[in-house]
Amino acid sequence: MTERATTEWVRVRASGKINLALRVGPRRDDGYHPLATVFQAVSVFDDVEVRPAPAGTFGVSVTGAQAELVPTDGRNLVVKAARLLAERYRRPDAGAEIAIRKSIPVTGGMAGGSADCAAALLALTVLWDLDVTPAELAELGALLGADVPFSLMGQTAYGQGRGDDLVPVLSRGSYHWVLAFADFELSTPAVFARFDELNPSPSRILGVPRGMLEALASGDATALAGVLVNDLQDAALTLRPELARTMDAGLEAGALASLLSGSGPTIAFLAPSEEAAIDLSCELGKAGVCRTVRRVSGPVHGARLVT
Ligand code: C5P
Repeated sequence: MTERATTEWVRVRASGKINLALRVGPRRDDGYHPLATVFQAVSVFDDVEVRPAPAGTFGVSVTGAQAELVPTDGRNLVVKAARLLAERYRRPDAGAEIAIRKSIPVTGGMAGGSADCAAALLALTVLWDLDVTPAELAELGALLGADVPFSLMGQTAYGQGRGDDLVPVLSRGSYHWVLAFADFELSTPAVFARFDELNPSPSRILGVPRGMLEALASGDATALAGVLVNDLQDAALTLRPELARTMDAGLEAGALASLLSGSGPTIAFLAPSEEAAIDLSCELGKAGVCRTVRRVSGPVHGARLVT
């Protein structure tokens, strides 16, 4: 007879992401847009810790940056993840206390909610001792949100479909980014809706820029800077024109390029080196054009068991 694991708690760490390329096609009947995107996981992390709880109870607590903006009821993706997992793997006895510690900006275009969801899926799989393959976990993740499969995977990946059809991309070395976190949120559906208004007939044929995969394979930051692209950038800038000031400030402070992260409002600046990133983050902090400045590197891992 095998002895069942008596795990008291399980902690998983998951990273935020930026999109090095984000090409967007025409809205589909299901409301989603087809994408061609290159994700890179960067070193800003949320931690999710889960503990056993009575059957069917899923309590959530949130601490850390902007915790007050995160719902702790059934709207939170971690609760949806827990319910889906318990239902799929027929565990009516399952429950969990889920504690989230946030560093990834909330509604910031860095897939913070998806990172928490990916972390919860992995942590609960261990806590409840479920027999789930990584592919099954990614499939469940895709039902919960388009970015969840990448949050499970991490590193650098090419995404198609809603962004959940992924293949890993070779990326040499480490890129140094400075992130400008905004003091406001941008809703992803609102940014996609503005994209539709600004682009009545976007191209159906989507691809990432020529040279991006070559730049990543060679580890050439200057070459990568020349091909960064985000089709949602104009939509976000028309909703929040002050983002242009943030972008200009980073470029004036020595960034190789500026880029809206996902649907924003976080702005990512690519620096030529780690030293340049330190200088850039100091200058940007002094310019007073954002809530917080954060220096990160990428690529990094996706959702990973810590304890
Ligand atoms: O899947 P997720 O809940 O993260 O998506 C949030 C919203 O972002 C969707 O409801 C949709 O409005 C928009 N979206 C989109 N096309 C995608 C991904 C997200 O239109 N490929």
